[in-house]
Amino acid sequence: MNRKTVAPIYSMCVQPSFIIGTNNEDGTYNFAPITWVSATHEEGDKYLLVISMSGDKTTKKNVIRTGIFSANLVNTAMLPLMDYLGSLHAQDGPKNDIDYKVGRGTVLNVPTLDASPWVYECEVAKSVETGDSTTFFCHIRGIQTDEKLICEDPFDVDLTVLDPVIYSGRYHNIDHMIGKIGDFKEIREDGSSEDSDILKAFHKHRMIMYLMFFIGLFVALIGCAYIMTFPIIIGAGLLIVLAAIIYGLFSNAMTCPYCGEMLGRRGFGTHCEYCGKKIF
Ligand SMILES: Cc1cc2nc3c(=O)[nH]c(=O)nc-3n(C[C@H](O)[C@H](O)[C@H](O)COP(=O)(O)O)c2cc1C
Repeated sequence: MNRKTVAPIYSMCVQPSFIIGTNNEDGTYNFAPITWVSATHEEGDKYLLVISMSGDKTTKKNVIRTGIFSANLVNTAMLPLMDYLGSLHAQDGPKNDIDYKVGRGTVLNVPTLDASPWVYECEVAKSVETGDSTTFFCHIRGIQTDEKLICEDPFDVDLTVLDPVIYSGRYHNIDHMIGKIGDFKEIREDGSSEDSDILKAFHKHRMIMYLMFFIGLFVALIGCAYIMTFPIIIGAGLLIVLAAIIYGLFSNAMTCPYCGEMLGRRGFGTHCEYCGKKIF
């Protein structure tokens, strides 16, 4: 890969989008988007949510004062809500120009957003100041998830069901689930690789498809030359072309062998234009 050098300013940083729910001093609630969110390990099966807030926003003050908050994952349907909540400051008045349903945590007394498919209920364990920012390391005391989400183990979370908004200076969404750890390990102990098996089968089917396709075209062309005497030859040629297309569809020769997306819809290259894996 050829790279260029750019100024070392904070720019690209892939962040999950959360809306943080906190309790105001007067007992009302407040919500604000925060995307400086990550996680770290504590001990055993305990993890800490790491969340950072700058300035003197009400959300930050509430977290410092109460030590608890909810982190509501933002999905793409919640973008209007995130934009709205992020454009206002609680100190200028309640953010109630648009309708959104608010619930309560099941473990902690924190406000939660009904629209969110994944809600953490958090309690601050430790905080660290850097300049005007405070980073909170927080115990996860409760989690509420969308009933539609089925997880076989804690790490089996299909983000395409949650449809989270990813922020990195611009909003993004997620297109595919492309595998789990180890799926992309290239070389087996015997020196072969799963990728090479997958690609071998894919290329074999693709070659058969192209062969049938061109034979069909060839036969149809011959049929054109003898159209008066053997019109049936054109039909036979076109039937072979059709068979090639059906074969291509059923043998998956027309879709990426890794992510299953139809190839060529965004142009052809050596890599799948959806999952980025090398296929040619
Ligand atoms: C997409 C998005 C991401 C944001 N991420 C952060 C963040 O990570 N940390 C932060 O301190 N402020 C962040 N903000 C800014 C706050 O959401 C914003 O200042 C908000 O108005 C604060 O509300 P409050 O004053 O009611 O607490 C973000 C805003 C948007 C729109």
